[in-house]
Amino acid sequence: MGYRVVVVGATGNVGREMLNILAEREFPCDEIAAVASSRSTGDELEYGETGKMLKVKNLEHFDFTGWDMALFAVGSEATKTYAPKAAAAGCVVIDNSSLYRMDPDVPLVVPEVNPDAIGGYTAKNIIANPNCSTAQMVVALKPLHDAAKIKRVVVATYQSVSGAGKDGMDELFEQSRNIFVGDPAVPTKFTKQIAFNVIPHIDSFTG
Ligand SMILES: NC(=O)c1ccc[n+]([C@@H]2O[C@H](COP(=O)([O-])OP(=O)(O)OC[C@H]3O[C@@H](n4cnc5c(N)ncnc54)[C@H](OP(=O)(O)O)[C@@H]3O)[C@@H](O)[C@H]2O)c1
Repeated sequence: MGYRVVVVGATGNVGREMLNILAEREFPCDEIAAVASSRSTGDELEYGETGKMLKVKNLEHFDFTGWDMALFAVGSEATKTYAPKAAAAGCVVIDNSSLYRMDPDVPLVVPEVNPDAIGGYTAKNIIANPNCSTAQMVVALKPLHDAAKIKRVVVATYQSVSGAGKDGMDELFEQSRNIFVGDPAVPTKFTKQIAFNVIPHIDSFTG
């Protein structure tokens, strides 16, 4: 028997990749739902390269009852509204945003590092995962930590614009084109011009 799986944010960079990987790995899905905002309701997405087309549903009206798990990739704001609703309907939320990463009632899991922590999901029916730099870093650090305890890690990361979603990538493209043709490169998504630049600012500043 397979699972009933929802991909929330299915039209975004992360959501599309989730669909590709679920299909590529032949994850046992009996049913899969592609969910996003009202902007994309009714659009069609391919489930990996299977030829199976999924009609995008509106998150605002989506009923999570009877669905086994929902992979959330919609950003913290929408997650704050809809993840608790999905969890209350009995659907296990696996969240990619930063919203629940510091929540003591939500396990923060990297399967290669702390798979046993997943059992803690029952407190809220939600599982968090760390950001992309952290997830891959801790996979490399885990065997070092097991061999000789790590006390402190000093990290500097350089993030690509794709970390800011499809709007970030579009802004880089537009500004690069504008600069080549002599038009102004006006920032909207980023705080400064991002084309041919590096900005020491990612996401929102936290204390
Ligand atoms: N854990 C990690 O390693 C990792 C890595 C990268 C990103 N992320 C996180 O994953 C999330 C998505 O990133 P992304 O790069 O895929 O962003 P993106 O390309 O901008 O896509 C955003 C997705 O969210 C949907 N969405 C936005 N607001 C919504 C709302 N109010 N209601 C319903 N759907 C809404 C969009 O739907 P429409 O197309 O309809 O607008 C789209 O499907 C972010 O939280 C990001 O921080 C996590």
